[in-house]
Amino acid sequence: MRLRESVPADAPSIAELHRDAFGEAEGATVAQLALDLLKDPTAQPLLSLVAFQDDTLAGHVIFSHITVDGNDIGACIMAPLAVAGTQQNQGVGTRLIRHGLAVLRERGLRIVLVLGDPAYYTRAGFAAGHEFAPPHELAYPEAWMALALHDGALAGVSGTVKCADVLNSPEHW
Ligand SMILES: CC(C)(COP(=O)(O)OP(=O)(O)OC[C@H]1O[C@@H](n2cnc3c(N)ncnc32)[C@H](O)[C@@H]1OP(=O)(O)O)[C@@H](O)C(=O)NCCC(=O)NCCS
Repeated sequence: MRLRESVPADAPSIAELHRDAFGEAEGATVAQLALDLLKDPTAQPLLSLVAFQDDTLAGHVIFSHITVDGNDIGACIMAPLAVAGTQQNQGVGTRLIRHGLAVLRERGLRIVLVLGDPAYYTRAGFAAGHEFAPPHELAYPEAWMALALHDGALAGVSGTVKCADVLNSPEHW
């Protein structure tokens, strides 16, 4: 498998991947979110990684900039993440997450947030129990998790998260 940062020409395959992975109910919304985030200046700095199996797009993830109480604290949020239906349960998602975290650490970021299934994301080191308020009220607060990219990065840090404009929209929460 090959991992690299996405380029503008990947956009149609990225949209198709999210439509496929998230299915009829959510696919169109998440695909549009991915495309919009890639173009949203308020999402910068942004890391968008694609995984290829042979010549087929197998997975995609975006890490985009957030602020906390209006401040840049070196934090980002991981969303969306998707792996093509035929490629799931083969470690693609895990590799995208691990590689993304390593790149972000090298770039000096301190914290990554995610809203997702705790059963999956706790495997990568994300945990609830931090002090960040989400942009909107959540149906499942235990799905709102954080990961420190450096020892102690979460200590004493609190406040309300604001994401990129397109991701801050209530439909995504
Ligand atoms: C969730 C997703 C990204 C996982 O990627 P993946 O490449 O299939 O997963 P990996 O191969 O890295 O990991 C597989 C393991 O995670 C588990 N797993 C996969 N999805 C899970 C979930 N939603 N909750 C809990 N465990 C999950 C698998 O059972 C498997 O467990 P095992 O190692 O004990 O057999 C992928 O299945 C996907 O795109 N799903 C649809 C879209 C989606 O839900 N995105 C995440 C939104 S929060």
